[in-house]
Amino acid sequence: MNRGPLIFLGVFVAMAFSWYGMIVSPQRQIGGQQQATVEPAGIRYPVPRPGLAQRGAEVYRANGCGYCHTQQVRPRGYGSDFERGWGLRMSVAQDFLFEQPAMLGQLRIGPDLANVGMRWNDPQWHYRHLYNPKSTVEKSTMPQFPFLFEMRVIQGDRSPEALDLTGELAPPKGYEVIPKQEARALAAYLISLQSPLSLFEAPIPAEPKKDAEPSTNTVAVSSRNSQMLGLGESLTQ
Ligand code: HEC
Repeated sequence: MNRGPLIFLGVFVAMAFSWYGMIVSPQRQIGGQQQATVEPAGIRYPVPRPGLAQRGAEVYRANGCGYCHTQQVRPRGYGSDFERGWGLRMSVAQDFLFEQPAMLGQLRIGPDLANVGMRWNDPQWHYRHLYNPKSTVEKSTMPQFPFLFEMRVIQGDRSPEALDLTGELAPPKGYEVIPKQEARALAAYLISLQSPLSLFEAPIPAEPKKDAEPSTNTVAVSSRNSQMLGLGESLTQ
């Protein structure tokens, strides 16, 4: 008996279902993502990174930071991301709209970096940490990246960017350690990693208020955003 057509039909249906499930439906769900307008100030989120930070993303990729660090805060209940203070809300596809490619990562030898710019926003801290992680975090097991810096003779005044290194790490007298362009870009990138705004699909839980709780999600989102943007409550009422 010739079962060819039946087998063909079976394979065809299986392929068609997988194509729909794995290509068409994700494309329909997230393919058309757009910038959101975040209330109450009407600012657009996310925005493309400024040039230096964008170059820093390349340095991040080139140095394999993504092997040890993720950039995604998991939803509440899927781990202890919130308890560890890695973000105010979970990450959603919209956060990665301008990432090419998105450095989601899959292994967490170090902390999640999705919001590292909210924890450490001083380039000097990042310089010292990258130059030698033990200079800022005593028991750090993160590798050093001294090749992103250069040691040079101090000419005239000490550079304002020179690293403030003490003890064994201090350069010889008359020398200073300054960040190369890669380190500057990388620090700008790390500081740009922040997602402090409440989105409709991933609201930041509003802090309990003395008076009545906001009755809808949208109001909660905008009142949280006005707090983050430093706007008075007046705007949301
Ligand atoms: C072998 C794994 C490993 C690699 C590769 C690595 N890190 Fe880390 N990183 C760690 C560990 C472990 C920590 C936690 C200890 C510390 O803070 O130094 C950490 C901490 C950090 C922190 C501080 C995070 C916080 O919340 O305090 C930053 C920022 C960071 N790493 C950036 C980088 C960058 C940028 C690169 C690439 C140039 C990189 N890391 C490469 C393991 C790694």
